Amino acid sequence: MSHTPVMLDEACEGLNLSVGGVYIDATFGRGGHSQAILSQIGPQGQLIAYDQDPDAIQHGRMHFKDDRLELRLASYESIYADMQQRGLLGKVSGILMDLGVSSPQLDEASRGFSFMKSGPLDMRMDAGLSGRPTAAQWLAQNDESTIANILYRYGEEKLSRVIARAIVHHLKHVGPIDTTEALGQLINESVGARYPKGKHPATRTFQALRIVVNDELNTLDRCLAQLIEVLKINGRLVVISFHSLEHRRVKAMMQRYLPGNEMIVDIQTPADTPRLKRIGGVVTAGVQEQAVNVRSRSAQCRVMEKVA
Ligand SMILES: C[S@@+](CC[C@H](N)C(=O)[O-])C[C@H]1O[C@@H](n2cnc3c(N)ncnc32)[C@H](O)[C@@H]1O
Repeated sequence: MSHTPVMLDEACEGLNLSVGGVYIDATFGRGGHSQAILSQIGPQGQLIAYDQDPDAIQHGRMHFKDDRLELRLASYESIYADMQQRGLLGKVSGILMDLGVSSPQLDEASRGFSFMKSGPLDMRMDAGLSGRPTAAQWLAQNDESTIANILYRYGEEKLSRVIARAIVHHLKHVGPIDTTEALGQLINESVGARYPKGKHPATRTFQALRIVVNDELNTLDRCLAQLIEVLKINGRLVVISFHSLEHRRVKAMMQRYLPGNEMIVDIQTPADTPRLKRIGGVVTAGVQEQAVNVRSRSAQCRVMEKVA
């Protein structure tokens, strides 16, 4: 199973790759971006790549034989501490984050990410290494209003209350919801008739569950500001995001550290000094890429440079 990297040229250009630099790929996946980075950093360059998915790292170890690449099975949340430990804080030339799930994760039924494939309702990107609950366990452990709130916040699902009620009713009176198929079918039965044509009624619920199971947005929030410390002055941070909740996080972080915001003086929370400079505007995939890679259609690429 392969993964077609999104906005490969744009991301590499955004990183402003230079021979001999130290780079980080925060989301290795199948290594499409990593491979392109390695091809442009010369024999002395170094690339440290993270992924919390053991399958991604195992695949990388099998297919990449390159001494310049170090693969780390860890969340990108550990980048700051890792770089601190190695004395690399403030020395990294560029960091790439290509958020979300990879095609192999979606395509492999046993990972439980997709309502299009029948499999266990799992959705843990780290395959359980950190001990987080599966999506099925998360549903069974939470009450109706928590489920509804998560579907609304992380899936922007307008019918969140109806779906949450159907889930909790099923769990109480029918039995466990252990498979992607069972959840997809339940959602279809409860709201399918009210759903606009062309979109599967389970799409938003599956997105919300994936986000909560992997704590995706909180992790991103915690991590983004730390990455500024990892970069050297003039180092670049490139983030590719795929849905409005991710776009918003990246924009909020940029607004906080870009020039102009030092005017917002509040005695309790002094304004941050500008740390970043925006490089170009929001980049989206070209028409040709969008035609051949569906995942690229919602993608937005933002580039920032550390200035202080
Ligand atoms: C869109 S894919 C990356 C694809 C990659 N750029 C390529 O070209 O193959 C996103 C990857 O990020 C990983 N990921 C998501 N959240 C993560 C986190 N907090 N820490 C590390 N990896 C994460 C996922 O497991 C997935 O493999």
